[in-house]
Amino acid sequence: MAYQTLTVEIDDNVALIRLNRPEALNALNSQLMQELGDALTEADRNEKVRCIVLTGSDKAFAAGADIKEMSSKSFVDVYTENLFGDEVDRITATRKPIIAAVAGYALGGGCELAMACDFIICADNAKFGQPEINLGVIAGIGGTQRLTRFVGKSKSMEMHLTGRFMDSAEAERSGLVSRVVPAAKLIPEAVAAARKIAEKSQIAVMAAKEAVNRAYETTLSEGLLFERRNFQAMFATEDQKEGMSAFLEKREPQFRDR
Ligand code: HXC
Repeated sequence: MAYQTLTVEIDDNVALIRLNRPEALNALNSQLMQELGDALTEADRNEKVRCIVLTGSDKAFAAGADIKEMSSKSFVDVYTENLFGDEVDRITATRKPIIAAVAGYALGGGCELAMACDFIICADNAKFGQPEINLGVIAGIGGTQRLTRFVGKSKSMEMHLTGRFMDSAEAERSGLVSRVVPAAKLIPEAVAAARKIAEKSQIAVMAAKEAVNRAYETTLSEGLLFERRNFQAMFATEDQKEGMSAFLEKREPQFRDR
């Protein structure tokens, strides 16, 4: 499918989706959010894709929701259209893993979009923030909830109330990102991580993603039960036999997603 606000390249089982509205630092407008949802659905359905990398430009992952598009809307408008609510749900509904590769600004909806992915690798020039407070609003697609779970109440509250940005070192220190890499290496590193995931059994990858995400949705005892039952379920797969036999035979496993 051809998109106007993003590009999709599929190579070696990895779909690289680049947000592409350079004139507005990749601000998230309705078209971009619709196209991103479509691109993710397409990648989820495409058998050649086993992992997805979502990125922006060197200067901005995304500088937030498009303020020009939003500014004249009323409560009734944003309530009835559920502004970006359905679109962000399409991101979290994606079953294949999504790595956010963040360089430059990830602000407001941009920070929220990165946090809706499965993990974040960032460039050393990355800046994260929830500056909606400066516009007289608050985060709307997960910021108050996800940032708080990732970095704790104190830091999240400060960021939401003051609008200050967090640099890459602070983002790594506080657990918002899995790691920081030099800006020039961001895409190769994120794609290498995606390729590594693509080599695994897709059944185990999806089960691991579901189980980790449960940690954010339920109690510890329910999450532990979910994990244990899914660990046990892996023993119904051919990939479990293959993975363990390959280890014992000192060879690389050949997973077949069965
Ligand atoms: C629309 C935006 C934009 C945005 C930048 N631009 N951010 N347009 N929406 N969120 C546009 C600018 O208007 C400008 O266009 C061009 O991109 C370059 O931006 P500059 O400001 O000139 O760049 P710079 O001086 O480098 O500053 C970068 C910046 C700043 C610090 C990122 O642009 C900024 O503060 N942007 C807004 C960040 C923000 O408040 N985000 C939260 C949005 S609310 P022109 O045409 O003038 O060249 C939100 C709510 C989410 O995200 C919930 C949704 C449900």
